[in-house]
Amino acid sequence: MSEVRVRTAVFPVAGLGTRFLPATKATPKEMLPIVDKPLVQYAVEEAVRAGAELLVFVTSRTKNAISDHFDRSYELERALEDRGDREKLALLESIVPESVHCVYIRQSHPLGLGHAIACAAPILGKDPFYVLLADDLLYGEEESGALLETMKAIHARTAGPVLALESVEESEVSRYGIVDPEAVDDRTVRVRRLQEKPRMGEAYSRLGVIGRYLLTFEVLEALQGLEPGVGGEIQLTDALSRAIARAPLHGTVFDGRRFDCGSKIGYLQACVEYGLTHDEVREEFRDYLGEKLRFLVDPKRR
Ligand code: UTP
Repeated sequence: MSEVRVRTAVFPVAGLGTRFLPATKATPKEMLPIVDKPLVQYAVEEAVRAGAELLVFVTSRTKNAISDHFDRSYELERALEDRGDREKLALLESIVPESVHCVYIRQSHPLGLGHAIACAAPILGKDPFYVLLADDLLYGEEESGALLETMKAIHARTAGPVLALESVEESEVSRYGIVDPEAVDDRTVRVRRLQEKPRMGEAYSRLGVIGRYLLTFEVLEALQGLEPGVGGEIQLTDALSRAIARAPLHGTVFDGRRFDCGSKIGYLQACVEYGLTHDEVREEFRDYLGEKLRFLVDPKRR
């Protein structure tokens, strides 16, 4: 098996986030916090753990808070220094390790995920790269770190792009890109075809594409000149379908827990889950939830 390095991770963060209005009118969806850390930071940490050294953010006019978050904040650092608050200073310094570089590219119109990735093409070169959608939050360091590593190992064997997949409910297939799978082993499939958001009853399978990708140059080439697809957007799914003719496409089934934080319910679930394990608040929060549950079961109790 050849040694493969994936140095670059792309974060498309230029979507409109309409499912989360009005919160996302002036604040990027990816900056919504889960307890005390914005979604995009969880995704960045996951990519850095997997070895990414160059982080490419595809942003838009309303997303400056993201580049600010990964930049220095001299006023804040100065104030913390004056107070002697070393702990919080270390927290700020750890947001992006010094060895990691951030690059920002603007997507001038939200023409779709495929278009956002194509915007990054000029700096991607020919090497494979990860794509992480920050609103898909993968629970737990082990699972999330392992997923990108697994994808890299599959790429090392196949030299093609690799998708992260999840088994979704029949009623939910129309919210996902769906694959036509051929089993390779327990967790790996070769993808024969893809369809974007099929109607219930028309899906090839129940394996949906989730927000982690390992993409190759063939996919970037396939994005060139692609016509808008479902929803009038330039669809990554269409580029992947095109690229299958040139490079084998595989998927790995993620069996950890994922929260779709682009939806209100997924976001709320993530806040509860992370609140219950957060060092600072977990005990108080567990007591609060316990009380709340007792009240829900027996509304006469207060
Ligand atoms: P979503 O499908 O979640 O779309 O995009 P959205 O616009 O962000 O949210 P809703 O549906 O209106 O609530 C998936 C990912 O692709 C990025 C988004 O930022 C998100 O991370 N994206 C989407 C772009 O960067 N540019 C686009 O034109 C579209």
